Amino acid sequence: MVRSDEVEMAGASGSGVAFHEFASSWYQVAWSHELAVGAVVPLRYFGRELVLYRGEDGTPVVLDAICPHLGAHLGHGGCVSGGDIVCPFHGWRWGGDGSNVEIPYARRPNKAARIGSYPVREVNGCVLMWFDHDDAEPTWEPPRFEEFYSADYFALSPHGTAHIWKNVGFAPQHVMENSADFAHFKFVHKNAEIAVIDYVRPDWPVFRYQMATTYRTPEEPSVPGELPGEMWGLGLLMFRVLGVHDTTQLVTVTPIDEAHSDLRISVVSRNTDGTEVPDGMALRIMRHQIKEIERDLPIWENMAYLNRPLLTPDEAKAFRILRAWTRQFYPGGERVELESIERDDPQPADSDLADARRE
Ligand code: FES
Ligand SMILES: [Fe+2]
Repeated sequence: MVRSDEVEMAGASGSGVAFHEFASSWYQVAWSHELAVGAVVPLRYFGRELVLYRGEDGTPVVLDAICPHLGAHLGHGGCVSGGDIVCPFHGWRWGGDGSNVEIPYARRPNKAARIGSYPVREVNGCVLMWFDHDDAEPTWEPPRFEEFYSADYFALSPHGTAHIWKNVGFAPQHVMENSADFAHFKFVHKNAEIAVIDYVRPDWPVFRYQMATTYRTPEEPSVPGELPGEMWGLGLLMFRVLGVHDTTQLVTVTPIDEAHSDLRISVVSRNTDGTEVPDGMALRIMRHQIKEIERDLPIWENMAYLNRPLLTPDEAKAFRILRAWTRQFYPGGERVELESIERDDPQPADSDLADARRE
């Protein structure tokens, strides 16, 4: 029997992994191609009201959205002027750093007034903001993946797959843990055989791993392939699908509140034929990635999060390392040295299973 203190329903608060807290990481808030110059977008992430806009110089900005003058939401009716946003209620102007720049009916701005601003980066066709549970500055930069810039790959916009599932009922932790879960590929994603971990190499702030797997294709019952991936904090997961038609996918999870997130994928595949527009396998595999995520979704939305899962020795070792790695980003987390797994390592002993259940 699983005791209630060992279980957290997706997103619920309790002990163990701190789903009731948000991890410090880079999180996607938009795609670059959907944020035109002058666009203003209301956002609700991390239990906060936020506004995203693109200034006239092209710089994306994320601010706390509630105007401290009388409480209007800058994301609903605010407009961009230069690099600033102007409140729709009484015209107070706020800079991209959150400072008060102008009060149209006062002689000078309120120099002491400031609204919260967040570091923003634009990389791999995505707009990312830094969330920090201590409101500190970023301690690392988000990675750039060459496929999103290479002429050998179809451009994400307009030819790749950029898809969002809004307000899904789980936390980033569920999605990131999928990477250590080699056994689910056969049952959820219908791969031909149980995948094998080639390696797991946790580092700060990236967790690199690779699965060896076997795909079913319409032509072949079992094609060998690799799934190398990288997690960067709790907000970003990149993996490559190699073996059928080289494809690179970014999965991002941005928490709305403790129980809900926006899930996005960005997929680009290699242009093997030098065509202008993807077709054939390149197109099929990019579109197919939506279906693969939709196979995971009902599991993630309805699963309980077990603080002490019952695992095989192989699973236990991978999960123990991954969970220890994720813990570093949550409040109270400290950087730790973690061991790697290499395929040629000796088989884990049964004691690994006991270790995983203790954590
Ligand atoms: S509420 Fe924003 S200017 Fe008054
Ligand atoms: Fe999955």
